[in-house]
Amino acid sequence: MTNQVLLHFLVPLFCGAISQPIRYSIPEELAKGSLVGNLAQDLGLGVQELPARNLRVSAEDYFSISAETGDLLVSGRIDREKICGKKSECVLEFESVTENPMNIFHVIVAIQDINDNAPHFFGKNIELEICESALPGVKFPLDSARDADVGSNSLKMYTLSPNSHFSLSTKESPDGDKYPELLLEKLLDREHQSSHHLILTAIDGGDPPLSSTTQIWIKVTDANDNAPVFSQDVYKASLRENMPQGTFVLQVTATDQDENVNGEITYAFLNGPASTNLVFSLNPTTGAITTNGTLDFEEKSRYMLGVEARDGGVHTAHCNVQIEILDENDNVPEVTFMSFSNQVPEDSVLGTVIALIKVRDKDSGQNGLVTCHIQEELPFKLQPTSKNYYKLVIDRALNREQTSEYNVTITATDGGKPSLSSKTRVTVHITDVNDNAPVFHQASYVVHVAENNPPGASIAQVSASDPDLGSNGQVSYSIIASDLEPRALLSFVSVNQDSGVVFAQRAFDHEQLRSFQLTLQARDQGSPALSANVSMRVLVGDLNDNAPRVLYPTLEPDGSALFDMVPRAAEFEVCFLLDP
Ligand SMILES: *[C@@H]1O[C@H](CO)[C@@H](O)[C@H](O)[C@H]1NC(C)=O
Ligand SMILES: *[C@@H]1O[C@H](CO)[C@@H](O)[C@H](O)[C@H]1NC(C)=O
Repeated sequence: MTNQVLLHFLVPLFCGAISQPIRYSIPEELAKGSLVGNLAQDLGLGVQELPARNLRVSAEDYFSISAETGDLLVSGRIDREKICGKKSECVLEFESVTENPMNIFHVIVAIQDINDNAPHFFGKNIELEICESALPGVKFPLDSARDADVGSNSLKMYTLSPNSHFSLSTKESPDGDKYPELLLEKLLDREHQSSHHLILTAIDGGDPPLSSTTQIWIKVTDANDNAPVFSQDVYKASLRENMPQGTFVLQVTATDQDENVNGEITYAFLNGPASTNLVFSLNPTTGAITTNGTLDFEEKSRYMLGVEARDGGVHTAHCNVQIEILDENDNVPEVTFMSFSNQVPEDSVLGTVIALIKVRDKDSGQNGLVTCHIQEELPFKLQPTSKNYYKLVIDRALNREQTSEYNVTITATDGGKPSLSSKTRVTVHITDVNDNAPVFHQASYVVHVAENNPPGASIAQVSASDPDLGSNGQVSYSIIASDLEPRALLSFVSVNQDSGVVFAQRAFDHEQLRSFQLTLQARDQGSPALSANVSMRVLVGDLNDNAPRVLYPTLEPDGSALFDMVPRAAEFEVCFLLDP
C-alpha cells in the first residue's frame, strides 16, 4: 500500500497525539522540488526551531521537507493514475514527525488529476462486415476506448471522419463506459463501393482535450441485388449451311456485378426445347452456341432464338440471337416436264411445241440460277419463256423415214461455283404421215410369153415399195388400163393385189395376138392414198403349132407384107417358154 506510507513502528512509542490532519491538495505530476505547502508553519513551528525539532515525513518516495524553510516539497513522481487508478478521489496520507519533544502529525495530500492521458483504443483497426442489404438506421456498437484519466479528463466523446454513409454517436453503458455506436445513414452498394474506410476519434474532456484515433475498415458484403446484364441486346451471326454438328456459332455473355453465387450466371434457351432450339446447343456455363446437327438453308434460312441468363438467385436477363444461314450450292437443278407429247407427226410445222419444261433449283442467288440446253445436232431447240420455263420446239423439218425417234437430253446447269448440273432424257417418237407414194422397182416391164400357155399361169410379177409405216406403206396392185378391149382384158390377165403377180387368164395364141400393153398401179392404204403407175408390155411368142402351107402374102394396112418365117418340122414339136 504505497499510498499509506506510515511509519508504523513509531506509533506504539508516541501514541495519542494529533487532533486534525494537515491537508494539502496538489495536481499530479508536479516537478521534483515543487512546493506542496509550508508544513512547519502549518504545524506552528518557527523557522528557528527547525534544526532542533528535526521535522521529517514518512512519505520519502514522494515528499521531502526543506530543512531551512520547513516546506513540504515534491521529491518523486506522483502519477495519480498509478497511485489511484480509476478512483475519483486520490489522496496520499502520511505522518510527519518532530523530535524534542516527539510529535506525530497526520498529513493528507489530495492528488488532483491532470489530463495527462489520452484516450486509447485497444486495436489499431476495427473491422466490420456489413451486408449491402442492410437498411439505414441499423446500428453497430463498437469497442470503446480507454482513458486513464478521471472525471472531466476522462473520455468524453467519439467522432467519425466525414463520410456519406455513416454517422456516429457516443453511448454510455450501465457501468459508465462510453462507447461509440455507428449508425448506417444511407444504403450501401457493394458494386459501387465495396469497402469504406473511416477514422474514429476518441476525445477526452480535458483542457486542452486529448484524443486518439483508430481506423474502421468496413467491408460491404454482397446481396444478390443485381440482375445479369447481357453485353448486347441482340447477337447476330451468319453460318454456312451443311457445317458439321458442333460448329461454333457465337457466344453470348452476361455479367452480374454480384459476388460468388449471386453473380454466377447460367444460360438457357427461352421457350424450352422448341424445335428450332434443338438444332442448336447452348453451353449453360459459357454461353457458347454450337450447332446440333446440320443446317439446311433451303429448310430454314434464319433463326431467332431467345436466351436467358440467370444468376444464382432470382434475377434474369434476356437477349435475342439471330442466326442467318448462308446458302451453299448443294442442290442440283431439277427439270420437270409440265407437258410432253412424245408422239410427234413428221409433218409438224416448225415451231411446234413438243414439251413445256420447268427448271428449279432450291439454292438461292447464283447457286439457284439455272440455264438449260439440249444437244446441238437435234432438230429441236429450247426456247426460254417466262422465268424458269422453257419450250421444246421443232427447229428443223422432221422425216420419220430418216429418223423415227430422238433421245433428247436436257442439261440444266446452275450458276454456283462450282456449278451443279442434271441431265434428263426423253425419247421423242416421230409418227408416220403418208408422205411417200409407192415406187415401182422398174420404170417399165416387158414380158415375153410363149403362146399356148396354160391358163392361170403366172407370167410376171411387179413390185413397188413404200417407206411409209403401216397402211401408209402397204401397197396393193391393180391393172388400171390396157390396150385390150376393156371387156377382153378380164379374160386375158389379172394381178394379185398383194403379191403383184400377173396371171394369164387363158392360153394366148400368137397368131391372133402378138402383144398387148397394160398399165399397173401400186397404191398404198394411206388416207388419202398415194399411188404410182407402171406400164407392162406383154409379147406373145410363136410356137410351131401349124403345118406348112402355101402362104399368100397378105397386105397389111400399112402396105407391108406378112409372112410366116418360122420353118417347121412336122415330126417335132418344140416348145420354149420365155422367162417372164
Ligand atoms: C440435339 O438434337 C437431338 C436430336 O434432335 C435432340 O434429341 C437433342 O435434345 C438436341 N440437343 C440439344 C442440346 O438441343
Ligand atoms: C435412245 O435411247 C435408248 C435407250 O438407251 C436406245 O435404245 C435407243 O437406241 C436410243 N435412240 C437413239 C435414236 O439414239
